[in-house]
Amino acid sequence: MGDQRRSSIRVEQVQKSYAGRMVVDVDELVLGDVPIEGLLGPNGAGKTTLMRMVMNSVSPDAGRITLNSSDGSTTTLSSLPTHKMAHHGVVKSTQVITDFDQLTILDSMLLAVATTGHEFPVRPGAERSLMSANEDEIRSYLERFGFADATAIAMSAGEKKLLDILRCLLLKPSILLLDEPTAGLPDEVTAKVLEVIRELAADGTSVVIVEHDLDVIWELCDEVTFMAEGRVLMKDDPASIRANATVIEKYLGAGHG
Ligand SMILES: Nc1ncnc2c1ncn2[C@@H]1O[C@H](COP(=O)(O)OP(=O)(O)O)[C@@H](O)[C@H]1O
Ligand SMILES: [Mg+2]
Repeated sequence: MGDQRRSSIRVEQVQKSYAGRMVVDVDELVLGDVPIEGLLGPNGAGKTTLMRMVMNSVSPDAGRITLNSSDGSTTTLSSLPTHKMAHHGVVKSTQVITDFDQLTILDSMLLAVATTGHEFPVRPGAERSLMSANEDEIRSYLERFGFADATAIAMSAGEKKLLDILRCLLLKPSILLLDEPTAGLPDEVTAKVLEVIRELAADGTSVVIVEHDLDVIWELCDEVTFMAEGRVLMKDDPASIRANATVIEKYLGAGHG
């Protein structure tokens, strides 16, 4: 991997307050300059708010967030609408999944790719071949994750959550933000999700992940950014973060590590 350029996100002087209380206050942070980056910190540290500001689904009060693409171009994300993010390769898993209720599993995946995956409107007629090319990939993911019937409608919260992750993968992001992607999923599904995350990262996607299972963080991540009370306190390799006195005091507690 060494010399390969990856897309990364630069966060500069970004602040966000709610009701007069500062919940994110980040001077300078680069996310995604390694294959898999963990974002770690206690509840309320500002991790979700920071990810939402990257997607511009929450507007920062101050500061700038830019995407440095692997092709060398730079895009100011803080002035880009959320629905344009995927066109620039920036994709985030969502927590509230709304659009899987009416469509079959296969159709909802096809729709997700067709509506968010392309920068330009697809020519009439080209749509069908695009759809069928995607369909093969979708079917292979569905099979891998044990969806026996692609014409069924997703029922459980776990199925919807997994489909949202598959939607993200199908978009072939250059940066993928995952906010607790495996929370509530059965262990065997979690293992498969982690496996595809590794594959994606090895193929050049920069993955930024918030995950409560610390064993996952230590094992999966190349680097870890530690946040508390809205601020980035350090960014280092997992072993150093795990051994750090401040991290232990603010997050891991005695007896951990
Ligand atoms: N929409 C909101 N309105 C008011 N307070 C919020 C809102 N979103 C987040 N907060 C507050 O901001 C702080 C950081 O929250 P969050 O970013 O969700 O932290 P984390 O994801 O690290 O647990 C918390 O104190 C939370 O209560
Ligand atoms: Mg959160």
